[in-house]
Amino acid sequence: MSVGGFPGRPVRPGDPVRPASRNTTSLLVDNIGELVTNDGRGGDPLGVRRDAAVLIEDGQVAWVGPARYAPAADRRIDAGGAAVLPGFVDSHAHLVFAGDRAAEFAARMAGEPYTGGGIRTTVGATRAASDDDLRATVRRLRAEMLRQGTTTVEIKSGYGLSVADEARSLRIAAEFSEDTTFLGAHVVPAEYADRPDDYVGLVCGPMLAAAAPHARWIDVFCERGAFDVDHARAILACGQAVGLGVRVHANQLGPGPGVQLAVELGAASVDHCTHLSDADVDALASHRIGCMCPDGEHTTTVATLLPGAEFSTRSPYPDARRLLDAGVTVALATDCNPGSSYTSSMPFCVALAVREMRMTPAEAVWAATAGGAAALRRTDVGRLTPGARADLMILDAPTHLHLAYRPGVPLIRQVLHNGVPR
Ligand code: NIG
Ligand code: FE
Repeated sequence: MSVGGFPGRPVRPGDPVRPASRNTTSLLVDNIGELVTNDGRGGDPLGVRRDAAVLIEDGQVAWVGPARYAPAADRRIDAGGAAVLPGFVDSHAHLVFAGDRAAEFAARMAGEPYTGGGIRTTVGATRAASDDDLRATVRRLRAEMLRQGTTTVEIKSGYGLSVADEARSLRIAAEFSEDTTFLGAHVVPAEYADRPDDYVGLVCGPMLAAAAPHARWIDVFCERGAFDVDHARAILACGQAVGLGVRVHANQLGPGPGVQLAVELGAASVDHCTHLSDADVDALASHRIGCMCPDGEHTTTVATLLPGAEFSTRSPYPDARRLLDAGVTVALATDCNPGSSYTSSMPFCVALAVREMRMTPAEAVWAATAGGAAALRRTDVGRLTPGARADLMILDAPTHLHLAYRPGVPLIRQVLHNGVPR
């Protein structure tokens, strides 16, 4: 799309500039030293442009091009030669919970292993919390994320584990995100410990019925100690039958059948992927029909890696290089939750992925933006191209490389969400 000038080519000096329509305020982000578009132009997945500008209208990107051809706009933000990136797409977060598990973290750092057993502690605290307390926690974490460049976040339930508590978790999540995920099958709650089949029946029946109106996705923790592959398959199939998209937590604590199940069901994403067999990598790679078809359909199962979890559980990191070299689409996300990964910071995850998982800085930035969008099967976020949502961050740095090169430094100078400075 070109704005002002003539359709089909960039605006040039001297072109008549189309006045902003009466109901529209246009905003130009100008003087961008390095613009990451993720448009894949010239074979560069990041689609980097130098000395660029972005025009925003109606909350969307209206034009991208050389700063010297930038059209006039009602308002202007001068990026001062800094880098501008699409907002992060955090495609895996558990934000609806109460309490924290700092003592459990301290015990782990003193040598205790992570088993997922603490999930039930958070379930107890979450059930006892008021709606307003849960809402305040989601709001606080969502605000933290926005300050660190995250403009899209998926939010899971999974700490309620009763019909009423899962439904209210998703109702609250839906106040903050379009991408809400029903994770009633996080673990079997204590009251069903000796009758897991009955719990699966509850999840597939009344719990799904109460949750589905507030959810876009269904997820299962398919792992030893949580749900076996038959239970996981049954639960995910019930979700698919009522129109929910599939995501799976798998192969976090050890090898297992979860990745293959995710591929078999055409899941949008399989998350963790820490312990993979060659067959798992082959399954992810061979079902990769293409990251995005011309009609906008994603057909691949994305491998979403969550390095915050390995950091906070002192576990070996997944081998991103092996997945990337096999041609698998990789996303990065925080897994923000009070147990295994209490970070809301995508820049931290990018730095970990580069330092510990053999990703290049460019691969990590792509995975944290376009990769997250692919994992959520969204084409409107994770890129800065005409028609995309105007979600972007201006760094206090000249290049995206600094996100990994300067770990722990608050490099996000300004965030625009839906074209609005936050
Ligand atoms: O993704 N693995 C399962 N669920 C979360 C951990 C939840 C918790 O420990 O509270 C995860 O790491
Ligand atoms: Fe998780």
